[in-house]
Amino acid sequence: MPLVPRVFLTADQIQNRVQEMAAQISQDYQHGPIYLIAVLKGAYVFLADLSRAIRTPTRIEFMGISSYGRGKTTSGQVKVTKDLDVSIEGHEVLLVEDIVDSGVTLTYLINVLKQRRPKSLRVATLLDKPERRLRPVDISYVGFKIPDEFVVGYGLDFAEDYRSLRDICVLSEEVPVNG
Ligand code: PRP
Repeated sequence: MPLVPRVFLTADQIQNRVQEMAAQISQDYQHGPIYLIAVLKGAYVFLADLSRAIRTPTRIEFMGISSYGRGKTTSGQVKVTKDLDVSIEGHEVLLVEDIVDSGVTLTYLINVLKQRRPKSLRVATLLDKPERRLRPVDISYVGFKIPDEFVVGYGLDFAEDYRSLRDICVLSEEVPVNG
């Protein structure tokens, strides 16, 4: 059956929450620059909105990772496919994720980044699926806690589709009219 995106969080709800998160971050970090490190690819939309709403000066960096031995869940090994271009030693670092699911990716990245001796290291994620956690992770800024549904849009994909949707949607199977 064809998959149909059903709106779960509207663009307005997302924008409002991102503004709230940015206000909190701006208050918590009085002095910049904050190094916002986004994990490709899913976090690119959240990063764009969040970074423009934070009043403290920021710098933008990207990391790429790949996971092995995973189906729909991250249970395998993670490795860095695109590393940072700069040193983060002595800097305030905020890791920006679109979603934390099993926590495997985040646990790995935090270990990698801690070795670079940042002044501080915190995590901001737009979405958090705590039900699926395999590794405990400490997240400072959470946009929305969501149930265990497969979500797309606002950067999140299904087989590389749907990333540019403005809303966050659940993919559900379309029921045929005479089915
Ligand atoms: C997603 C998301 C996180 C990771 C979270 O990335 O952006 O990096 O999965 O899952 P975990 O908590 O179970 O480790 P994904 O692998 O889908 O790649 P993408 O961002 O390029 O779509």
